[in-house]
Formats: sequence, C-alpha cells, structure tokens
Amino acid sequence: QLPSKVKLVDVGPRDGLQNEKGAVPAEVKIGLVHRLQDAGLTEIEVTSFVSPKWVPQMADAVEVMAGIQRKPGVRYSVLTPNMKGFEAALPSKPDEIVVFGAASEAFSQKNINCSIDESIERFRPVVEAARKHGITVRGAISCAVGCPYEGEVAPERVGHVARLMKDIGVQHIGVADTIGVGTPRKVQAAMEAALKHYDIDAISGHFHDTYGQALGNTLASLEMGIWQYDTSSAGLGGCPYAKGATGNVATEDVVYMLHGMGIQTGIDLDKLVDAGKYISDFLQRKPNSRASTAILNK
Ligand code: HMG
Ligand code: MG
Repeated sequence: QLPSKVKLVDVGPRDGLQNEKGAVPAEVKIGLVHRLQDAGLTEIEVTSFVSPKWVPQMADAVEVMAGIQRKPGVRYSVLTPNMKGFEAALPSKPDEIVVFGAASEAFSQKNINCSIDESIERFRPVVEAARKHGITVRGAISCAVGCPYEGEVAPERVGHVARLMKDIGVQHIGVADTIGVGTPRKVQAAMEAALKHYDIDAISGHFHDTYGQALGNTLASLEMGIWQYDTSSAGLGGCPYAKGATGNVATEDVVYMLHGMGIQTGIDLDKLVDAGKYISDFLQRKPNSRASTAILNK
C-alpha cells in the first residue's frame, strides 16, 4: 500500500550548500529558502549551528535564519550537534532541530569528533532543552547502509543507534545513506531495523545519489509505507566528511516521480525547477536533476 501523500523536506540550503567551496552569501541562501517555500515546500532544513572551523559555509547561520520571511505552515529546521549549537540556534526560533549521529564509529569520529556513545551523551541535554522549548527533535543516522571508512554497515547497527536515540527522547529519525551506496533491498533492511524502534510516521529517508540509486531507494521505502523524505533542490550537495559523495537526490526528480504515481506533495514542480535554477545559476552550473534539465529544455 503506497502512501497517498508524501512530505518532502528540502535540505538544499543546508546539506546542499554546506560543501560548497566558495562562500555563498546569506542573501542567496535566504533567496533559495524563499523560492522553496513559494514552490510549496512545507519543511526546509535551513542551516547548521556547527563549528565554523569544521564547516565554514554554515558560519552565517544566525544571519540566514534572521533573514527569512517566514511563511505560515512552513517549518524551519537547523542542525545542532551539541549544547553550544543549540544555545546559538534558540534565539533564531527553529521549529525543529536535528541532532546527527551515525551508525558507523569511524564516521562519527570524522564528522562530529566523538564516538557514537559520546554523541548520545552530547545529544541528551540538547534533546531535553529542545523539548522543554516545544521544539521538535529529529535525529539523523548517517551511514545507515555504508560508510566511507568502514564499508558496509549492518542493519543491526542502525537499530542500535535508533534505540539509543529513542531512549534520549528523539522524536523522529532520518535513515541516511550518506554516501549513496545503498540499493533498494539494503535500504529496506535498514528501514526495517529503524522500524523496530520508531513508528512509520516518525521515520524519513535521506538518500544521497552518488550511485544513481536514490530514486529506487525512495520507491523501495515508499513500498514499506515510509512517506517522509529529505531531498535537495537541484541535487545540490555532499558531506564534507564523506569524500566523493554527491548531493541528495534532487527534489525535482522525486516530485516528478511521485506526481507521476498519483502521490501528492503540495509542491509546484515548475516553481521548484525555478528555485533550483536560481541557486544553480548562482553557482554557475547546471541543476543536477534530470527532471529539471528535461523541463528547462522543453
Ligand atoms: P570539537 O572540536 O570536538 O568541539 O567539534 P569542542 O566542543 O571540543 O569545541 C572546539 C571548538 O569549537 C571551541 O572553540 C568551541 O567553542 C567550538 P574554540 O574554543 O576552539 O574557539 N564549537 C562550536 N562553535 C560553533 N558551533 C558549535 C560549536 N561546538 C563547539 N555548535 C563539533 C565538535 C560537533 C562542534 C564539530 O565536530 C562540528 O561542528 N561538526 C560538524 C560537522 C558537520 O556539520 N557535518 C555536516 C553535517 S552532517 C551531514 O551532512 C549528514 C546528514 O546530512 C545525514 C547524512 O547524509 O548522513 C545530516
Ligand atoms: Mg546528508
């Protein structure tokens, strides 16, 4: 039974832009957020409150959050790896924060400089504080099928981290194929492991498209009833701590597939293509989306 509606979270302004070498001005990031909300996105992952030494592109998080003209019904999420990040984010009034852990020890060390167990201890006060302020908490589980340092990752490790996140009060988890190595059955196994600890309504898929598998992985997850996905306009992105990994699956491509299957998203594909074109023009490259390319060439 396929879901009749899907919620897409555009992570382009955050996951998409975090890896850009050249500085993207805050006003361009804000311009992208505005275009995405005008296209009908109801959740946008805007930025990260992380160390600027680690991810310089996100150093303008406060400015970006302050510059957004909020649209009613739209939720704005930000990444907060620790209390310092949460405290910096709080005045910006995010609707949701994201703590980001990993199913692989090596990736946890490279990305957030601590072990999986230590990361949970860092997240614990963040989750508690966020929930006290009525802010929703999502947990990202990176390397849910494969790790750039450790290779294949067993589903049990996803289940293990999901349980740890559940124990500290994380409300929703994103099962993330950080480096896009997953294939449909492996992704389903990771989702099964997550489903042992979280309800179907509290799990989303986050698929990078390095090997061109992300749409297939999305369909495989849809078939399990998973109805929430992180996608990136124009297929922007990559993680600075996952060398060679490309961006998330393009929002445009997922919307095209879903609408073609009669699944509602509330998104206007033409406006979405314009949003992707806007940021791609700024970056002086073509949108990394087949649907966008096809529509722009019509
Ligand atoms: P650390 O060096 O272990 O932190 O980094 P620390 O607590 O020892 O502090 C060291 C310095 O950083 C101090 O400054 C702190 O104040 C500062 P100093 O005294 O040296 O001047 N600091 C901070 N500054 C600003 N904001 C903060 C913050 N915390 C400490 N929040 C830390 C640990 C987690 C901070 C670091 O490793 C970090 O920022 N990592 C972020 C990495 C990142 O953003 N990766 C990309 C996002 S995850 C992703 O893309 C995957 C995802 O898309 C899902 C998927 O695809 O898998 C979500
Ligand atoms: Mg990602």
